[in-house]
Amino acid sequence: MSMDELKRQAAARALEQVGDGMKLGLGTGSTARHFVELLGERVGAGLKVIGVPTSEATRVDAERCGIPLTTLDDIDRLDLTVDGADEVDPALNLIKGGGGALLREKIVAAASDRMIVIADESKWVEALGRFPLPIEVIPFGLSATLRALTLAFAECGLSGQMTVRKGGDGHAFVTDGGHWIVDARLGRIADAPHLSRLLNSIPGVVEHGLFIGLASAVVLAGLQGIRVVERP
Ligand code: A5P
Repeated sequence: MSMDELKRQAAARALEQVGDGMKLGLGTGSTARHFVELLGERVGAGLKVIGVPTSEATRVDAERCGIPLTTLDDIDRLDLTVDGADEVDPALNLIKGGGGALLREKIVAAASDRMIVIADESKWVEALGRFPLPIEVIPFGLSATLRALTLAFAECGLSGQMTVRKGGDGHAFVTDGGHWIVDARLGRIADAPHLSRLLNSIPGVVEHGLFIGLASAVVLAGLQGIRVVERP
């Protein structure tokens, strides 16, 4: 079975949690795209839901699939967000942002009563940090922000190479919010909540890819079947 089929299986399992009338956050990435497509099929068959996309890419996909959309300016809370992740640890803390949509993803997840993460088993890790941590920054004063990041990492006993993400055109990748992404290769992050708090306090950092305490459950699809882990 291919990785893509596993992702679709995880998406299908999460779809079982969706009921009529729900307000949904729609994640970004290759796994979340499966969820959007499967949800679109259910909508075509009569399911009534409304969605808030976490990126322009997902907005386009959702519109193509016929899912009615709204914004967080027009509704209050969301019932459920379903999104992918780059890493998930046993406390259900996450690294997200490999696709560059972490800012809207975090805003939408934080506005949701529940967040279900869908992923293939390769995303499950004992400790976060093998995947480079995406950090969304303001281009202004980048060197000052990088120095502050180095200090924050050192306070957590971490060091590592930081690179400004490039887009396909060789220039800096620009997020939906008009910012840049710094990818930090940190290795094992022993205390992700502490690092998250430190990063939140750096002025040039708009947001970062550590999602602490936001996921309610993760659906992991592997060759042995599907495993659902609820937040302890
Ligand atoms: C998008 O910014 C990310 O947070 C994605 O959710 C994450 O990178 C997972 O993407 P895949 O489902 O494509 O692995």
